[in-house]
Amino acid sequence: MKVGFIGFGEVASTLARGLMGEGVEVYTCLEGRSTRTRDLARSLAVQPCSNNHEMAGKVDIVLSAVTPSQAIFIARELGNVNGIYADLNNVSPLTVKEALEMVGKANTVDAAILGSVRKNGLKVKIIASGGAAEEFSQLNDYGMNIEVIGPDPGQASAIKMLRSAYTKGVSALLLESLYAAYQMGIDEEVLKYISQTEGPGFQESAASRMISSLYHARRRSEEMGEVVKMLSTETEPCMSRATLEFFKALDKKVAKLEKKPANIHQVFLELE
Ligand SMILES: NC(=O)c1ccc[n+]([C@@H]2O[C@H](COP(=O)([O-])OP(=O)(O)OC[C@H]3O[C@@H](n4cnc5c(N)ncnc54)[C@H](OP(=O)(O)O)[C@@H]3O)[C@@H](O)[C@H]2O)c1
Repeated sequence: MKVGFIGFGEVASTLARGLMGEGVEVYTCLEGRSTRTRDLARSLAVQPCSNNHEMAGKVDIVLSAVTPSQAIFIARELGNVNGIYADLNNVSPLTVKEALEMVGKANTVDAAILGSVRKNGLKVKIIASGGAAEEFSQLNDYGMNIEVIGPDPGQASAIKMLRSAYTKGVSALLLESLYAAYQMGIDEEVLKYISQTEGPGFQESAASRMISSLYHARRRSEEMGEVVKMLSTETEPCMSRATLEFFKALDKKVAKLEKKPANIHQVFLELE
C-alpha cells in the first residue's frame, strides 16, 4: 500500500508514523513548506516528491490534511486523480463537496477525524462517506480506525461539524468563565463546583480543552467558520457565531504563542 499526504503537520505525521510501522510506503511534497513541516517529514524519512501531481501518480490513496482554509485550493490545484482521494480536513459539507468535485466523484472520500490525533495516534476514529469510502477503509488493515457511515460526500463532515459546534462552544465558555474566575481569584472554587455537576474527570478534560483551545486558536477559528457556514443553511447560529468570534479574538491575542501551555495557570498567564 502507498499513501501520499498533502500537508504534513500533526495529522499527517502521526498517521504516517503509524502506517509506516505497518509497512505502508508514505510520500509527501515539501516544496514551499515551513521548517516545522519539513522537519516532521524528514524525521520520519518520508519519501519526497517534487509536486503533488507526481505524488498522486505514485500512490494508491492521497490524503489531504492541510489547514481547513486550504482544502479547496489544494484540490483545485491537483485536479483529477486516478487513485483514491480522501479529504481529512475539518470543513463543512459544502466545502468538502466542492473540493471533492475537483478531483473526481466516484473515487473520493469525505473523511472526518473525531477526536485528537495526538492522543489517539493511528487509532483515532475517522468516519467516512462518499463513493470510495469502502476502499478507503482498507486502511483499517494497516491499523487505522475508519468507520464507513454512508455513500454520499458531506455526510461525515456534517456529523463532525455538529459535534464541533458543541465541543468548541463548551471550550469557549470554559475559557471565558474560568479566566474571569481567575481574575477574581476564585477559579479553583468555580472548577470545583462545576465538577460537582459534571462528574468525575471534568477537571482534567476542562484543562485539556482550555490548553488546546489556546494553542490551536487559529485552527479552531477556521473550523468554527466552517461550522457557521454549515449551520447558516439550516438556522440562525447565534451560539456558534459567538464561538467563532471568541476564537478569532483569542487567535489575535495569542498569535505569538510558541509553546503549548503546560497547565491552566499558564493559560491564564498567557491571557493576561
Ligand atoms: N490535529 C488534530 O487532532 C485534528 C483533528 C481533526 C481534524 N483535523 C484537521 O486535519 C487537518 C490537518 O490538521 P493538523 O493538525 O495536521 O494541522 P497542522 O499541524 O497545522 O498542519 C497543517 C499542514 O498543512 C500544510 N499546508 C498548509 N497549507 C498548505 C498548502 N496550500 N499546500 C500544502 N500543504 C499545506 C502545513 O504546511 P506549513 O507548515 O508549511 O504551513 C502543515 O504541514 C486540518 O484541516 C484540521 O482541521 C485535525
